[in-house]
Amino acid sequence: MRWLVVGSAGMLGTDLLDVVAGYGYDVVGVDRDETDITVPGGLGDYVDGCDVVVNCAAWTAVDDAETSEAQAFTLNATGAGLVALAAGAAGARMVQISTDYVFDGNATSPYPEDGPMLPRSAYGRTKAAGEWAVRALCPDHLVVRTAWLYGAHGKCFPKTIAAAGALRGALQVVDDQVGQPTWTRDLADLVVRLVDAQAPAGTYHGTSCGHVSWWGFAREVVAAAGLDPAIVEASATDASARPAPRPAYSVLGHHALQRIGVEPIGDWAQRWKAAAGQVLES
Ligand SMILES: NC(=O)c1ccc[n+]([C@@H]2O[C@H](COP(=O)([O-])OP(=O)(O)OC[C@H]3O[C@@H](n4cnc5c(N)ncnc54)[C@H](OP(=O)(O)O)[C@@H]3O)[C@@H](O)[C@H]2O)c1
Repeated sequence: MRWLVVGSAGMLGTDLLDVVAGYGYDVVGVDRDETDITVPGGLGDYVDGCDVVVNCAAWTAVDDAETSEAQAFTLNATGAGLVALAAGAAGARMVQISTDYVFDGNATSPYPEDGPMLPRSAYGRTKAAGEWAVRALCPDHLVVRTAWLYGAHGKCFPKTIAAAGALRGALQVVDDQVGQPTWTRDLADLVVRLVDAQAPAGTYHGTSCGHVSWWGFAREVVAAAGLDPAIVEASATDASARPAPRPAYSVLGHHALQRIGVEPIGDWAQRWKAAAGQVLES
């Protein structure tokens, strides 16, 4: 089986290349140096002969998207649609990586895969539009929503917190936003397992199980970095206004995976223990 990873130099794309190769599949990666997915035909010949195309390329600067929504839309919606068109024309399956930000963040129980998309931010609107574009343009698609991603190959919350904790000795982190910290290697592995299982086209949630607040996660990060968790104080979202609204509740349910017999990613705390060394030492 031949795979194409689009956005292969990013945090998820880098791990996906490695994980797919580890399963013994042929895999090629392309990023902005080789292609521009916002240009029709931008993928060129790369897609020819591929069985699976995974789109990890995205505008991920959530706050900047509030003032640059048109540019974010071009990448997250138009770009995703063009990848879907190319994948469909080549007869490949398309995996589109999406986000918890397509939901409103006001729920009190895990969001189901078929729950209504009510994004409250520009980033969320553009990613929701990307989902619809992929559904419309590549019938054989898997939309995989993830959240709170961290990994060895990009800027992420654990690296920022560990560095700030070591530098400043005291931190304030919000305690009123909860979610599911998810390791890029675990998400990459889930994508391969979904494809291997010949998952029916549709929408799946690729996050760890359980949930925690950013404050609770920061305490685990600081402990893994050899610092005292007590240096992390709890604060409230209202105390630090940011351009894009943050979802208070970013917990995604995993019923679609369970229905097809694909094991969801494990509990976030156990997975963090497995990941911490690789992520913090990178
Ligand atoms: N990070 C998170 O916490 C998080 C949470 C939920 C969902 N997600 C989703 O997960 C996916 C992967 O995120 P990530 O954190 O791995 O993103 P990332 O590190 O920002 O990687 C995205 C990659 O896409 C490339 N790219 C940008 N524009 C492109 C273009 N026009 N053509 C080709 N490549 C282009 C980027 O290159 P440049 O660096 O040169 O721009 C970058 O290498 C995204 O779909 C994101 O929306 C992420």
